[in-house]
Amino acid sequence: MKGKFIVFEGIDGSGKTTQINQLSKWLISTNLIPENNQLVITREPGGTELGKSIRSLLLDTSKTKSPDSITELLLYAADRSQHVNEIIRPTLNKGDWIISDRFCGSTLAYQGYGRKLDIKLIKDLENIATQGIYPDITFLLDIPVEESIKRRINRKEDRIEKEGREFLSNVSLGFQALSEDSKWKKISAINSKENIISEIQSEIKKLIKNK
Ligand code: TMP
Repeated sequence: MKGKFIVFEGIDGSGKTTQINQLSKWLISTNLIPENNQLVITREPGGTELGKSIRSLLLDTSKTKSPDSITELLLYAADRSQHVNEIIRPTLNKGDWIISDRFCGSTLAYQGYGRKLDIKLIKDLENIATQGIYPDITFLLDIPVEESIKRRINRKEDRIEKEGREFLSNVSLGFQALSEDSKWKKISAINSKENIISEIQSEIKKLIKNK
């Protein structure tokens, strides 16, 4: 793959959107992306037209019946497969860069550690959906569960956010475990915005240097 693939992960309310916006502004202003290439911002679930429909099936709270855990897992995998084939692989092949708000780490954390589904099953589906495409770097924006709940107090919750404190604590433990991987960088998201931004920028500079 010629381009770079950057992912942001974290529990709900960790500030991914803000940091993705900041990073994209900085990348565009610094010419770190080769002149003829572009930056694509995307997300899971919902990075494609089909994915938008899957997102609403997954997160809509108006339905009387929720999908069961395996159905939920398969819907996230379907969203990812379409996302990889329609957006991620073609973009990287052109040498363009991608920032994705969530990727495989979210499934391991939410469906693996949160729902307690079998990790091997999740990884098998991950292999099918990604066909070997993995991020160059994943940032975990780390906030305590209590802070996540506090930050979202006046926000309308989606179906997953409604799961409550214990579920979120398990998801958070999952993210902690995943962030031990060398391609993950854990950033404390309760630091000042300036500190978070500069930590992210310095990791991106390292990534380019070590390519
Ligand atoms: P968002 O609010 O960050 O857009 O994410 C949507 C919700 O979907 C969020 O609560 C996390 C959840 N999610 C999973 O449970 N599994 C996954 O694989 C992904 C990508 C997201």
